[in-house]
Amino acid sequence: SRPGARNPTGQQRTMARAKVAILISGAGTNMAALLYAAKAPDCPYELALVASNDPAAEGLKIAAAEGIATFAQPHKNLDRAVHDAMMHDRIVNAGATHVALAGYMRILSEAFVQKWEGRMLNIHPSLLPKYKGLHTHQNAIDAGDKIAGCSVHLVTAELDDGPVLAQTEVAVLPDDTAETLAARVKFAEHQLYPRVLAEYVA
Ligand code: GAR
Repeated sequence: SRPGARNPTGQQRTMARAKVAILISGAGTNMAALLYAAKAPDCPYELALVASNDPAAEGLKIAAAEGIATFAQPHKNLDRAVHDAMMHDRIVNAGATHVALAGYMRILSEAFVQKWEGRMLNIHPSLLPKYKGLHTHQNAIDAGDKIAGCSVHLVTAELDDGPVLAQTEVAVLPDDTAETLAARVKFAEHQLYPRVLAEYVA
């Protein structure tokens, strides 16, 4: 709702909400969690744009159905810097103040990271600094870890390496596969990301 609007409890909203562009590559369940959390009258952020490098990303449909602006720009045959510049322009034009990576499976150019430094967050399905990159759940199981989890961190030039803002631990079950563990960690991701993003922008 707009600044100054009354929420259902009758309180007046005085602060402008941060405007977040969310970048996705797939299902977009974390994006959906961020979106639904933003429906709370006291949420300090709203969604300005959901963008993807894959026009078929399921999350784009979810966002569009909620009236959120969407944008897709396939990266195939495009220089990384050129693709990132196109994304950056759309993010800026949407009025975004922050970027939230939510399953965006592209390595970002240094120029893009620099432009959003301190205003771009990512969620990663491991207890960083453990298991950067892909196959995090299989790695945790193979290592015999009893505790897995997820992290929200600030994005810096190194992959999955920026300062960790918060983590949620998730117990590994004896019969977990990478798939069952991933599904359970996602419940934790969906709780953690909206809370940490709200705290960060507030
Ligand atoms: C999430 O588990 C997220 O943590 C992971 O991709 C999944 C996206 O799911 N991100 C990474 O691995 C980034 N390195 P979603 O599209 O359903 O939100």
